[in-house]
Amino acid sequence: MKTLPFLLATLLVVSGCNSTKMNEQQAGIEKTSFGKLTDGREADLYTLRNETGMEAKITNYGGIIVSLTAPDKNGTFSDITLGMDSLSGYEKGVPYFGALIGRYGNRIAKGKFTLDGKAYTLATNNMGNHLHGGLKGFDKVLWTATPVEGEEPALKLAYTAKDGEEGYPGNLNVEVTYTLQKDNALRIDYKATTDKPTVVNLTNHAYFNLAGQGDILSHEVTLNADRFLPVNETLIPTGELKPVAGTPFDFTTSTVVGKRINDSSDVQIKYGLGYDHAWVLTDSSKTSKLAATVYEPTTGRVMEVFTTEPAIQFYTGNFLDGTLTGKGGVVYQKRTGLCLETEHYPDSPNQPNFPTSTLRPGETYQTSTIYKFSTRK
Ligand code: BGC
Repeated sequence: MKTLPFLLATLLVVSGCNSTKMNEQQAGIEKTSFGKLTDGREADLYTLRNETGMEAKITNYGGIIVSLTAPDKNGTFSDITLGMDSLSGYEKGVPYFGALIGRYGNRIAKGKFTLDGKAYTLATNNMGNHLHGGLKGFDKVLWTATPVEGEEPALKLAYTAKDGEEGYPGNLNVEVTYTLQKDNALRIDYKATTDKPTVVNLTNHAYFNLAGQGDILSHEVTLNADRFLPVNETLIPTGELKPVAGTPFDFTTSTVVGKRINDSSDVQIKYGLGYDHAWVLTDSSKTSKLAATVYEPTTGRVMEVFTTEPAIQFYTGNFLDGTLTGKGGVVYQKRTGLCLETEHYPDSPNQPNFPTSTLRPGETYQTSTIYKFSTRK
């Protein structure tokens, strides 16, 4: 049954009230203004709150998770994501903090691919390659947001990417729904359809720091993956699926991130400046399975990542360099946050041996990822 506070908050949102207030501990969704984009359009900020008091703030600009709180072992909630205080901070340029990524998350070699015999050229925005959808990917567009009625606060974001946008073929209708579940999990459901054959790889680029401060080197990570994708100097997969056993990429048991992150005798660590690779999940089924677990010992926070996707990019914030000042005036130094981007393999459009990322008319792209929070003493 729907809770009254949830209905009330939804009704107030639907009736256009700009600053509805939810009481502490009431589940619901609240809409406020997030300011104006430089082109004059308004962006909104939606606060989703579940009954335990966990909050996710999401803007329809880029579908960005602006903040996400989770309790520590003493029940104290802190924001555990990196981001900016204002819309203009995001618009000035950030490395995809909390954003929805598309049409193709991760890299496509040299911005080129061929589909059904036709060659396509995309922007090359990263070391001569195409990264995260191009110059104006889904992280920089204004989505249409609609609160979803149901037992748990949810927000549906919709966007239609035009045929030819950023060089990709086909009008692509995308729907992403964020649901803040009762069990302290943020669920993200992705859906897309196209009117021409195209390639699709949607993900979210949240940077997590479960301590809420400092770096992520003492976070402990488990990845349910016995192989990873080695890359070349420009971070494009070589095509090999390499066993992690005996390498710094072995996270099959809980391992401190900092343990081998600087082992530059390993060429893959050298190329990535640390971890910036896709791990191939051992369970290759399309059902939702546990892909990763992160534990932060000082706060006891635990994050589990479940996904229907075949791979997960583990990126340790190697390119953060202290030039960005984020929420609350915090300077984001190298390794202030870690990303676990669930996805298809990078460069799949050019690698016939990788699971296909092609979407054809009449098919529905549908994936789901859950970030679930708990604590351990
Ligand atoms: C990429 C990194 C990149 C980061 C932010 C990650 O998904 O793998 O190489 O620096 O996104 O742009």
